[in-house]
Amino acid sequence: MKWTIHARRSVAVVGLIGIASFASLLLNFLFYTHRYPQTAAILPASNRSDEAICHEESATKKPIKSTKLAICENPYLQPGFVWYNDTKEETQTTWVPFYPNLLDQSYSLTTLRSTREPVDPYTSDGDPYFPTEAPPQELLDIAPHQWMQDIVRHYELHKASVASETGQSSRSRQVLELEELENRLVWLRNRRILIVSDSVDRYQSEYICNRIGNGLTHSKQGRQTAAWCHIPAWNFTLMNWHIASVSPTRPSWWWVKEMAIVNVEERWTEYYLPTLKDTIGMNGKSPDLILFHTGLWDHTYFIRGPEALGQNATWSRSLNWRELRFYMQRMRMVVSMLRAQFGDDVPIMCRSVTLKRSLPSNVSILNLDRAARFVCNELDIEIMEFGEIIRGYFDFYKDTVHIDRGPLSVLWANMILWSLFRTQGGVEVRGELVKMPTNSTEVVNVAEGWNRCHNDFMNAKRY
Ligand SMILES: *[C@@H]1O[C@H](CO)[C@@H](O)[C@H](O)[C@H]1NC(C)=O
Ligand SMILES: *[C@@H]1O[C@H](CO)[C@@H](O)[C@H](O)[C@H]1NC(C)=O
Ligand SMILES: *[C@@H]1O[C@H](CO)[C@@H](O)[C@H](O)[C@H]1NC(C)=O
Ligand SMILES: *[C@@H]1O[C@H](CO)[C@@H](O)[C@H](O)[C@H]1NC(C)=O
Ligand SMILES: *[C@@H]1O[C@H](CO)[C@@H](O)[C@H](O)[C@H]1NC(C)=O
Ligand SMILES: *[C@@H]1O[C@H](CO)[C@@H](O)[C@H](O)[C@H]1NC(C)=O
Repeated sequence: MKWTIHARRSVAVVGLIGIASFASLLLNFLFYTHRYPQTAAILPASNRSDEAICHEESATKKPIKSTKLAICENPYLQPGFVWYNDTKEETQTTWVPFYPNLLDQSYSLTTLRSTREPVDPYTSDGDPYFPTEAPPQELLDIAPHQWMQDIVRHYELHKASVASETGQSSRSRQVLELEELENRLVWLRNRRILIVSDSVDRYQSEYICNRIGNGLTHSKQGRQTAAWCHIPAWNFTLMNWHIASVSPTRPSWWWVKEMAIVNVEERWTEYYLPTLKDTIGMNGKSPDLILFHTGLWDHTYFIRGPEALGQNATWSRSLNWRELRFYMQRMRMVVSMLRAQFGDDVPIMCRSVTLKRSLPSNVSILNLDRAARFVCNELDIEIMEFGEIIRGYFDFYKDTVHIDRGPLSVLWANMILWSLFRTQGGVEVRGELVKMPTNSTEVVNVAEGWNRCHNDFMNAKRY
């Protein structure tokens, strides 16, 4: 199955830039240079050549890949953009973070007036233009590690090494590469990720499993109950516990007929607990990481309720305080249940909300996103900013709510694996794997790995 999206028309879409924070960064930048045109530290004065600037600046400014970096830097909490090359395979997708000092790097200089060697090419009319090209290698080098690429490559090499008839020399090259990948990925072995969320995340985990051989298995109890993807090569499992809003009851007007049980407490015993054996990892106590989200179902629930009582369904209204309070309290309850089940120190992440395609009429989902952020922050839980990074990428949806397989699903996979790597004791700084987890055929203290940078990451989002 190849991903197909409307956006493929455009050649190498440079990510749509994604996020408002980047726009505001850019605005700041323009505003700043506009107000203070003489500030040579930010932009070159017009009588200096680029070459001189680069030379001077690189001598005085901290390089972007400095030798003395803090180990707690989360690339996915930095501003940045999603970059992929349309003609390339989806696993080539990259999140390109913008780190401090970026503006001072030679490759990001855009001169306001033409000099002998402008960074951006000019038309014969003297206007800058922007031919499509990949981000500079220096930026790609500090982008977060491409775990999905590794896993897929490993899978393909593994398959090929069983069947292949290739010549001796290329074969041994592949054997070496396979060994290298195995060493780099060994921390995946025996790991368990629990995803307590809706079908948006379930589809994302399904894409991983489809990609490397084994699809998703749905619980016999039905489609929206529990589902898992197990990757035998790594004895690695992504478990999905489906949550259908935080409603404590199944109201008579519930809109999904086949859904027998709605409330989390009942789903817990009926659907979730039977999967516990495949959810708990090597420590005999908890999964290695939990991803938690609820929002789209809640939104529909809040709109359908009044409608069932005879009011018009106004999708675009703001949610009211009672609704938000209820949502927040019930969210907290789900987190307490997770912590009671798996221990207070189990690493949990909240995923920021992904929007429905019918955004204008469903914009109050953003109220829930804000409320959920508040709750998670109060409960000392970090946020996986997938929803925010891909906000508005509706051309990449497969329907009105689900994100299709493609560049964004690769981003999702890389983000969640980046966090899992952390729980295993791994440390990555600006694309460099500075500390590899210990061979995780042994029990790992996931809380310890997680907590190394947890406090920093709780407060890391500044844009
Ligand atoms: C460049 O401009 C600055 C201030 O505008 C001036 O002080 C300096 O002498 C100029 N340098 C050259 C090489 O023209
Ligand atoms: C995209 O990939 C193709 C094929 O590898 C390459 O020829 C092209 O230059 C790439 N485009 C960009 C913008 O990197
Ligand atoms: C990890 O440990 C297991 C068991 O001791 C061993 O078989 C395996 O080769 C080790 N893997 C790596 C990459 O060191
Ligand atoms: C697979 O992983 C589980 C959970 O981490 C572990 O309990 C089990 O022993 C592993 N199986 C093998 C064959 O290593
Ligand atoms: C629902 O909307 C229709 C059409 O706008 C309006 O006529 C009707 O009065 C509304 N009903 C309620 C209960 O607000
Ligand atoms: C808002 O989203 C829901 C669920 O996707 C959809 O049924 C509804 O039609 C949307 N609202 C409007 C007015 O488009």
